[in-house]
Amino acid sequence: MAESTKTATLTIDGQDYELPIYSPTAGPDVIDIRKLYGQAGVFTYDPGFTSTASTDSTITFIDGGKGELLHRGYPIDQLAEKSHYLEVCYLLLYGELPSAAKLEEFESLVTHHTMLHEQMMNFFRGFRRDAHPMAIMVGVVGAMSAFYHDSTDINDPHQREVATIRLIAKMPTVAAMAYKYHIGQPFVYPRNDLDYASNFLNMCFSVPAEKYEVNPVLSRAMDRIFTLHADHEQNASTSTVRLASSSGANPFACIAAGIACLWGPAHGGANQACLEMLEEIGSVDRIPEFIERAKDKNDPFRLMGFGHRVYKNFDPRATVMKESADEVLDLLGIENNPKLQVAKALEKQALEDPYFKEKKLFPNVDFYSGIILEAMGFPTSMFTPIFALARTVGWISQWSEQLADPQLKIGRPRQLYKGETSRDYVDIENR
Ligand code: CMC
Repeated sequence: MAESTKTATLTIDGQDYELPIYSPTAGPDVIDIRKLYGQAGVFTYDPGFTSTASTDSTITFIDGGKGELLHRGYPIDQLAEKSHYLEVCYLLLYGELPSAAKLEEFESLVTHHTMLHEQMMNFFRGFRRDAHPMAIMVGVVGAMSAFYHDSTDINDPHQREVATIRLIAKMPTVAAMAYKYHIGQPFVYPRNDLDYASNFLNMCFSVPAEKYEVNPVLSRAMDRIFTLHADHEQNASTSTVRLASSSGANPFACIAAGIACLWGPAHGGANQACLEMLEEIGSVDRIPEFIERAKDKNDPFRLMGFGHRVYKNFDPRATVMKESADEVLDLLGIENNPKLQVAKALEKQALEDPYFKEKKLFPNVDFYSGIILEAMGFPTSMFTPIFALARTVGWISQWSEQLADPQLKIGRPRQLYKGETSRDYVDIENR
């Protein structure tokens, strides 16, 4: 933690408390309240963590006002254009872009860890046939701690490294197998001659009966989707991973917790919810009705794929994703897809609407990712698993950073209790 150069004064009942202020390399200053309870006997209150920094970190920086997303200082648009997913994984994990030799070594390491323990196939088969692939992923990733005992000791740096590589390498295999099981096709094993994204597409779309060639444009688009979702600082699922890990839980259990959190429609589940919404809207003439519903405070409906807690002008990932969507749809010749027509018109109408303008709501990454994934042939149920596999590197980088912190404490929020105060138990016959 940097030295504090400024302080804030908090006055409670006439008593002043000096609180250190730390200045980050970028972003707003933070007030250190760690000793506040000990000194003043009060807690701070911030449900939803809208003003609370839960950790210090050197991995990812977001400036929501400017629409800036940096990984280890590098802008996401440059990474999406010039780099590729495994190089971004290396950057997130180790802090610097790799040399050519280091990158080759890293890619080879990941490629040679993509197979799953064969007994895990039985585990997949235990799920109901129609299980959602996210349900399978939460279970299978959690169960990896039962299959890979030799990489669960978080106090051993070698085991931590092995778990890191295993998770990044095996997640596409887990996601693809969850999908194959869900649609009743045979599992397809990973292929070491294919790059990370092509291997994933092959495991999802090839079948033993036919030859399957991965289209390089689709593979590039897939890689970009992975890159754009790789990390996003202290979002809900990442904070879940950090909280789970603060208790000393093993890496597979922590990542399973992150996957479970990601599943919700306000987070990673938004891409599935967005496509389902476009389907429900159905035609361009029904858009005004849905926009009115989104604005109605008495209606819980929201425009899925719109708005963001941090970005308040635009989501830089959405800009790249939109370009990718155009490329993929052009390649596949599906410009007249009804959902795409609805999406384009919805985007235009919402952006022109005073409510969305005033509240700074605009399409986020999930608005376009679903359109590309659907065009590639993925069912909506696979959208969030793809987000989960891509985000695994972010979760594991943040997990690793947290474990290296000598000041690590178990996460234990406080509360503003509003329930009954102490009262005597009432026997059942007297209630
Ligand atoms: N449609 C209609 N109104 C909205 C929407 C929306 N999509 N998003 C926010 N608002 C309104 C909201 O009702 C509130 O109005 P008011 O000030 O009158 O109460 C105001 O805008 C601020 O919203 P909030 O819920 O306080 O903002 P938040 O920072 O807590 O929520 C969000 C951010 C992403 C959860 C929210 O915008 C949302 O639910 N969006 C739809 C789901 C979605 O697309 N999620 C994906 C996020 S990007 C991928 C990821 O990081 O996981």
